[in-house]
Amino acid sequence: MDERKAPAGVDPFAPSVARMYDYYLGGKDNFAADREAAQKIIEILPNLPDIARENREFLIRVVSHLSRQGIRQFLDIGAGLPTQRNVHQVAQDLAPDSKVVYVDNDPIVLVHARAILAENERVVAVEADMRHPEALLRHPEIREHIDFSKPVAVLLLGVLHFVPDDDEAMRIVTALREPLVPGGYLVVSHGSLGKLSADQEAEGREVFSRTSVPGTTSRSYEQVLAFFEGLDLVEPGVVPLHEWRPRIDHPYVRDGKAGALGGVGLVP
Ligand SMILES: C[S@@+](CC[C@H](N)C(=O)[O-])C[C@H]1O[C@@H](n2cnc3c(N)ncnc32)[C@H](O)[C@@H]1O
Repeated sequence: MDERKAPAGVDPFAPSVARMYDYYLGGKDNFAADREAAQKIIEILPNLPDIARENREFLIRVVSHLSRQGIRQFLDIGAGLPTQRNVHQVAQDLAPDSKVVYVDNDPIVLVHARAILAENERVVAVEADMRHPEALLRHPEIREHIDFSKPVAVLLLGVLHFVPDDDEAMRIVTALREPLVPGGYLVVSHGSLGKLSADQEAEGREVFSRTSVPGTTSRSYEQVLAFFEGLDLVEPGVVPLHEWRPRIDHPYVRDGKAGALGGVGLVP
């Protein structure tokens, strides 16, 4: 994208994790500053573009599965820039009456999302920060669009690792689960990179300190599993993303070092 044409409120010179992610996925909605930061992260973690692609395929499989279970309302928090096969396309292809709310705290996401959603009255995009989950849940547009007396799927895909503090991440998840009635779902995907060297950590911290997020962190299997406490984990549980109900039509080649975990929990 051309820096001179950056939408109002968008700083094209400060890397944004939404635009960096778009770059990992091979998209064009990014500026030079994003590409430079993303390249540095790829030098530290060369398989990050693979993780990003696996994450999108996980999203498609999960949304399809939940739609087949009858879910018609999706609250997608940390939605990211629109790409190919977004939540509303997957859900509405299977059930046209599906409703989706995209939430992100990066203004660029809202500019792009609103442009593609202009003619889809069952989908809205809302600017809100999940670090204030109670305020997010009170947002008038979310309340208007989503009927919390019926089952809702809350999606937290590739976003909780931008909350470095473990207690804060757990507090966010607990608050966002709170309004879900039985039959609703929580979906999480999360970076889980194992042990990084001190150099990798320091270099990563330096890059993220210049971006739109306060930092980033990897979490273990046990830590990701804890987000689902009290829910009925859908088979096969919390697993590397490509192991979650793989499909023959998602033939992405994995090297076995995914680096991200995902799971789906049903509210009993
Ligand atoms: C890596 S992208 C993931 C996009 C999409 N969920 C996916 O899994 O493909 C992370 C997104 O989370 C957003 N994000 C980061 N921190 C956030 C916060 N505190 N509140 C809302 N969105 C946030 C970023 O702006 C970015 O668009």
